Amino acid sequence: MAKTPKQIAGEAALDFVSSGMKLGIGTGSTAEAFVHSLAHKVRSGLEIVGVPTSERTRELCEELGVPLTTLDETPQLDLTIDGADEIDGSLALIKGGGGALLREKIVAAASRDMLVIADDNKLVNVLGQFPLPIEVNIFGLAATTEMIRSQAAAMGLSGAIELRTNADGDVFVTDGGHYILDASFGRIVDPEALSITLNGIPGVVEHGLFTGLASRAIVADNTRARIVVAQNDSN
Ligand code: A5P
Repeated sequence: MAKTPKQIAGEAALDFVSSGMKLGIGTGSTAEAFVHSLAHKVRSGLEIVGVPTSERTRELCEELGVPLTTLDETPQLDLTIDGADEIDGSLALIKGGGGALLREKIVAAASRDMLVIADDNKLVNVLGQFPLPIEVNIFGLAATTEMIRSQAAAMGLSGAIELRTNADGDVFVTDGGHYILDASFGRIVDPEALSITLNGIPGVVEHGLFTGLASRAIVADNTRARIVVAQNDSN
């Protein structure tokens, strides 16, 4: 059977992994494809340890025999490999479609480098077509939502801000015990500025804008993977 773009990207990420590395292991369907490729290499003798970015990824790694550690045992990682919902030319990302953005950001920030893996339809000129996930404390939900709305409006951003629910209609609760608001702000021309604004709102635990973390992305179509380097990367 032909490989999917996610499988092609996940497999290509192995070129950046070598024995002895401490890896951050992402969440989502592309990260899962990577875990399957990684597990295959581990069975052939590759020696790595990984920190999973969600309970879902931890369970998959355990099932497939990928050795795990924690950030408490291993606070500095070599490389995080993770998917994304949108990727712009400077490799700013929207993440959190799978609800794991808090751990994903903590793990990526604890890593020397971040490699994004994705199918090529995740590449965009300007972030924001994908609703921005914002993880919030359950306490004060309405007040936090209102503050996000007003601070975003002051930056010229508006749109629906919806509490995420799961397929059963229940409110989605993250691994950290928080809620997620999905903000349809449209074009986010200055992700760094919005990131700073959101981080300044009490009640916002974290948000899905990842800026200055990824240096490279592997994007794939049905036939091949290619590497995209951040446009503002001086290396
Ligand atoms: C998980 O919270 C997300 O950040 C994922 O990395 C992102 O949603 C990409 O997921 P897919 O690989 O399933 O598209």
